[in-house]
Amino acid sequence: MISFDWKNADASAIGNEHGLEIKKEFSNYKKQIANIVSELYSSKDQHGKWLKWMNLGYQDELIQEINQYAQSVKGKFDNLLVLGIGGSALGGICITEALLKPYWNILDKNQRNDFPRIFFVDNIDPDQINGLFDVLDLKKTLVNVITKSGTTAETMSAFMIIQERLEKELGDSAKENIVTTTDRNKGILREITNEKGYKSFIVPDDVGGRFSVFSAVGLLPFALTGINISEMLKGVREMDDALKNTDVEKNIAAQNALIHYLMDKKGKNLSVMMPYSSRLRYVSDWYVQLWAESLGKETDLDGNVANIGPTPLKALGATDQHSQIQLYNEGPNDKLINFIRVGCFDTELRIPEVLMETGVGYLGGKSVNKLMNAEADATRIAVTDFKKPNVNILVPKVNEYYLGQLLYMLEVQTAIAGALYNIDTFNQPGVEQGKNYTYALMGRKGYEKTAKELEQKLVTSICQY
Ligand code: PA5
Repeated sequence: MISFDWKNADASAIGNEHGLEIKKEFSNYKKQIANIVSELYSSKDQHGKWLKWMNLGYQDELIQEINQYAQSVKGKFDNLLVLGIGGSALGGICITEALLKPYWNILDKNQRNDFPRIFFVDNIDPDQINGLFDVLDLKKTLVNVITKSGTTAETMSAFMIIQERLEKELGDSAKENIVTTTDRNKGILREITNEKGYKSFIVPDDVGGRFSVFSAVGLLPFALTGINISEMLKGVREMDDALKNTDVEKNIAAQNALIHYLMDKKGKNLSVMMPYSSRLRYVSDWYVQLWAESLGKETDLDGNVANIGPTPLKALGATDQHSQIQLYNEGPNDKLINFIRVGCFDTELRIPEVLMETGVGYLGGKSVNKLMNAEADATRIAVTDFKKPNVNILVPKVNEYYLGQLLYMLEVQTAIAGALYNIDTFNQPGVEQGKNYTYALMGRKGYEKTAKELEQKLVTSICQY
């Protein structure tokens, strides 16, 4: 199992002003945490609670269906192009970056075991999308368009561009190059899917985008690139089993949620995610969305205006030791740093015994693995010396099983934190206003009045489109 160490957030390590008396707090919150955990588990199947992501570890049939489809298209495509944004993209990016061989897209086909290269379009930068057409042969590309609502402007505009090009190049058989992942019944993409007869997978009901990584949203692109999704869900299930424990002393997701919540009360409302592994770099991006959209809320469940929300930040060890650590050590004591440490790397890399007579001679004969772990330890200890609270998540290995555990633990942690803050963790009303303004500016029917009101507020651009 992955493990969690909170001792550097404890007053015994960093003093009373900045640290918590964690054991005492576990006992203070014992009952409340037990209630939260049992409420989560007892209501997870209820429609409207948005907790069905807690069932995603248990989907034997779906695994079979996805693996069968992946097998049926294996070798047919050089590229997999995933269109999606936010929760429909970040889990995919996070896991493929962690689990596919480094530099996957420039390995040759044999080195990729006949699996396709993978590209994500999770933005609408015209230069980037146009640039894609220089590197992708669309005829040899399988396009997986993912949108739960089936209406998201960014995703659907990319889809419209690519669908048109595919149909021009391939005519009717373009449909063989498209697979959709969307709601079972609702949304424009569902209508198009049915009309065109695209192969399709479902984003289950009561699973929000940012909690959908273990649904077909993530599992399909993973299986298509050869990632072992059965092993991943095994990790999810093991973690799920462990997190059912209502005792905060034994539930690591509850512990980290509580520590974040109490640190926020002490003025430390920035949550830094800092893995010491380039492969885990995008775990931070995924976590930032999960934490921000789930916990940043204007009102609490009793309707009080509260403007709640710890701000998540991303950092990468050791790279950001040369960028952000100066601030973390000497700047304001307003952060809780989540270090992620990898137990064993897949490979070992030795530094040769050269330049031994110089100032860098001490590195010769050691491994880069040792250097990475030494830097992780050194930074963690130094940050603690500066009395800055930090916790450590130990991931034994970067593989399917432990990634399943890690992401699921962070999801449950988020749900528990939301309950402690007494907010609705699973909505995102704050993003609607900007969406409506975009519709108005893009001339969507029904938004004419808003468009008029916005006229005075627009920034003058150099190019008018
Ligand atoms: O977490 C969320 O709910 C959001 O980030 C959505 O995933 C994002 O807005 C994309 O939505 P959709 O999948 O409907 O295109």
